[in-house]
Amino acid sequence: MRILVIQGPNLNLLGTRQPDQYGHRTLVDVQQDLDRAAAPLGVVLDHRQSNHEGVLIDAIHGAAETCAGVLINPAGLGHTSVCLRDALLGVGLPFVEVHISNVYAREPFRQHSLLADVAAGVVVGFGTAGYSLGLQGLVECILRADAQGAHRGPQSP
Ligand code: DQA
Repeated sequence: MRILVIQGPNLNLLGTRQPDQYGHRTLVDVQQDLDRAAAPLGVVLDHRQSNHEGVLIDAIHGAAETCAGVLINPAGLGHTSVCLRDALLGVGLPFVEVHISNVYAREPFRQHSLLADVAAGVVVGFGTAGYSLGLQGLVECILRADAQGAHRGPQSP
């Protein structure tokens, strides 16, 4: 199973950016941690980080043919981007939204997500450990959906 992992704007600065909020692990550390968590699940990860909304949207469109789901930290775009929401809904892939910090304990504008109500799940406030928690939840969700599809059997005409 292949899963697209999206890191939104400014997450390339992980490790040095507001370590009180986002910790000391770099983006590469986080990607390596996730690869280690993915291997025993039989999952291969496609990692993408961009500071540009359109690049993230193109990556989501590309995943429609190649991936079973999306693990996404939309960063600030999660609070603002109708287009990111539309892209995720457009490809119809299950996705899990991750935020490193507890956005609900921060400024009011961070307490609203344009993705959460259409996500399979949301992981918030567990630091960078939240990515592997989110991955686990996403894989379980995909496997559950596959099993339900398999048990449904052939459709009658
Ligand atoms: C973030 C929270 C967002 O509000 C912020 O804009 C980020 C990071 C997080 O992981 O906690 O860039 O998504």
